Amino acid sequence: MKQSFFIKTYGCQMNVYDSEKIVELMTHNGYERSENIEESDIAIFNTCHIREKAAEKLFSDLGRISKYKENKIKSGNSMKIIVTGCVAQAEGEEIKKRNKSVDLIFGPQNYQNITEALKKNEKKYNFTNFLCKEKFESLPIKNSHDVSRLVTIQEGCDKFCSFCVVPYTRGAEFSRPVEGIYLEVKKLVEMGAKEVTLLGQNVSSYQSNVFENGNEVSVKLSKLCNLISKIEGLERLRYLTSHPKDIGDDLIDEHLNNKKLMPFLHLPIQSGSDKILKKMNRNHSRIDYINLVRKIRLKNKNMAFSSDFIVGYPGESDNDFSETLDLIDQVKFASSYSFKYSPRPGTSSSLKHLNIIDEQTQELRLKKIQTILNKQQEEFNLKFVGGVEEVLFTSSGKKNNQFVGRTKFLQPVHVLSNKNLIGKKLMVNLENLTSFSFHGKIIN
Ligand code: 5AD
Ligand code: SF4
Repeated sequence: MKQSFFIKTYGCQMNVYDSEKIVELMTHNGYERSENIEESDIAIFNTCHIREKAAEKLFSDLGRISKYKENKIKSGNSMKIIVTGCVAQAEGEEIKKRNKSVDLIFGPQNYQNITEALKKNEKKYNFTNFLCKEKFESLPIKNSHDVSRLVTIQEGCDKFCSFCVVPYTRGAEFSRPVEGIYLEVKKLVEMGAKEVTLLGQNVSSYQSNVFENGNEVSVKLSKLCNLISKIEGLERLRYLTSHPKDIGDDLIDEHLNNKKLMPFLHLPIQSGSDKILKKMNRNHSRIDYINLVRKIRLKNKNMAFSSDFIVGYPGESDNDFSETLDLIDQVKFASSYSFKYSPRPGTSSSLKHLNIIDEQTQELRLKKIQTILNKQQEEFNLKFVGGVEEVLFTSSGKKNNQFVGRTKFLQPVHVLSNKNLIGKKLMVNLENLTSFSFHGKIIN
């Protein structure tokens, strides 16, 4: 009988992509996916270390699952517990110390070895080398007909923002060769994908070389988007996440000239205060960001922006926080994410225990920023009510005959239809807005 495995994914889209790869690797090797953790022979936790809450979630889940494992052993069965991802990389030893029932630990660039380790009944439990190249060369593509797919093109980060664990958990920047990415996107499109999102901690610093007419030429994100867009059948292309320092004119022009490249840019700024941006080692100022957005909008007035914000960074005064709110007011975002600062082990900001902002102030600031960002998102959305937008349908909705798709700006749209709309790109009249999603009617 086939052994079954359960997988839980925490955190970002890059982990979602990694989990897809793990699923394919396991099924390729004869394991069967199970949705029931208690009944599975192997439980895999693909983890996130970006904030303390995400990491602590793993430890509470492990507490519960180790009880299931004990029960299984008592009844003469077995269970293997595997931890992958960024907590595995950063706290492999700690995981083992805190929970003895964990069998194997794989960092984000080692999970290609899971099935090998299982077959060998490996006793060495901790696999945390930085093997990015090997990982991408050895993994199969998940077989699915999903309309919207993720493709990691770049991994790791050399920027070392003072608060961020990524350079430690995912290692130095690595860009996948163009050929591998191109072939992966082509295969996904052949399987039914219409939209692809290119992923990386720092996609905007993507850089690889190809041979053109016998000469080696550099391929940056703009050129990669251009090449991929030539794949017939691909209708929409996106990328995530960018750093404001890396957005060049070539990428701005690509948005203008490439109709498949969506006019939506996720561009984290983290803070609107120059003092805090400097402490964060972001290498750009508030005005650099404002000018960049202005420049992009001057060329391409349709472009919409989203961002990430951290509130309560050590030393953030009321005035610094007001500067962040003021920046939000100037830029006008389509949507955004905001977080309370969370000190992460090994990062430079966690080592300086200076001017920690108390929990209550952090909480108040988070509530305030989220209210403002939600309001801005609503204002952005309200402008679309009564208008017509192109929607790519990706899934069925909760109601009968309901389908869900997204506009170019990632706004969710629900419509009713007797025909299956999944995979179709249609013009939709956006009739009304409920919280953050639209209800509409297809235009014939
Ligand atoms: N504390 C709070 N938020 C963080 N982020 C990254 N590190 C931390 C941290 N230590 C946020 C940033 C980043 C997003 C992915 O997570 O806003 O852009
Ligand atoms: Fe982390 Fe900064 Fe790199 Fe983004 S750019 S992954 S926030 S270190």
